[in-house]
Amino acid sequence: MQYADITGWGKYTPPAKLSNDDLATFIDTSDEWISSRTGIKERRISHINTAHMAALAGQQALARAGIVADDIDLIIVATCTPDTLVPNTASKVQQLLGTNNSACFDLSSACTGFLYALQNATAQIRTGMVKKALVIGAERMSWFVNWSLRDTAVLFGDGAGAMVLEATDKECGLLEAKLGCDSKSREILSISNFGTDMDRYENPPGALQIDFLGQDIFKRAVRGMGKATETVMANANLSVSDVDLLVPHQANLRIIETLQHKLKLSDEQCMVNIQHYGNTSAATVPIALCEALEQDKIKAGDNIMSAAFGAGLTWGAGYIKWGERVTAVNDYTQQEQQCEQSAKELLSVAINHCLQK
Ligand code: UT7
Repeated sequence: MQYADITGWGKYTPPAKLSNDDLATFIDTSDEWISSRTGIKERRISHINTAHMAALAGQQALARAGIVADDIDLIIVATCTPDTLVPNTASKVQQLLGTNNSACFDLSSACTGFLYALQNATAQIRTGMVKKALVIGAERMSWFVNWSLRDTAVLFGDGAGAMVLEATDKECGLLEAKLGCDSKSREILSISNFGTDMDRYENPPGALQIDFLGQDIFKRAVRGMGKATETVMANANLSVSDVDLLVPHQANLRIIETLQHKLKLSDEQCMVNIQHYGNTSAATVPIALCEALEQDKIKAGDNIMSAAFGAGLTWGAGYIKWGERVTAVNDYTQQEQQCEQSAKELLSVAINHCLQK
């Protein structure tokens, strides 16, 4: 029997930080409102594109796994903010990693994308079709934000997280997952007027923006993540006391805390980093998983639950039995990508454009 052990982890979090106070200088909001309603204190704004962030996270994950890009059979990039639709972002990641050996595809399931990708790569490894995979969640959400809309502008950020998966005969890795999609409500979270849905000549795309019904999504996320978690735990024969760590999607601290309390977990057993990065969509779970390892929150054999919810409306949960590897094979320090500009300087054209409309 084959399993898919997670043997390497990496992240790229852009250096430029946009604080709540920075936001309050150009939209009607406050640190108090954002902190108390969402738990977010700051988010990162990237000066490089999605594929570049993904490749940096991937490079770190490969080095920590002690393998090179040529060893990888499959690269999946979960993203809803691709550099280009054709060719895909994963092929750019392969190019940046300097290899030519792997199958490459993008996976579009918004905030649930990483769990979808992890399940897909795990399944391919478990059938024996793939031996080693690089699974990445990477997003440049700031590109889609309308900086005049305070209900969405305060929520999102940029970043990437990556995991290396390798075939093993030891029972570990993603052992159980439940993924789904509530398409009846797909309109309540969308980026419209982008893609072949738009009228290309009569009504070319204007300013793009994330449209959503915040409260509705909030309630559905609480229900969806909770139900998926319950299903996965029941299928895996796990009781609440078996769970060592929860690594949830980071969309709102209040959603995370509801799930944490449902599972009766202490603060130490729940991975939270939303205060630093906001909602980075498909990148939240791998960045949080990577930081949990960097902060020694994961021990060999731990039972880890993850859950996510996003546009589609996609939802899902997964149970990961952590393998032996909790220390990096190579102590890899990422080359910091220098950025001379502040987050507000990086966004100045976008902010001016949005505020003039
Ligand atoms: O990752 C995909 C899944 N995404 C999510 O799960 C996000 C889910 N939604 C949320 O996190 C929350 O619904 C929000 C953070 C978006 C909003 O929080 P809320 O507690 O549901 O606030 P609300 O929409 O009910 O708005 C309350 C008030 C309104 O003012 P009035 O009508 O009471 O006067 C809003 O206009 O807060 C106002 N408001 C703001 N005030 C200051 C909305 N956004 C802001 C803001 N700053 N940024």
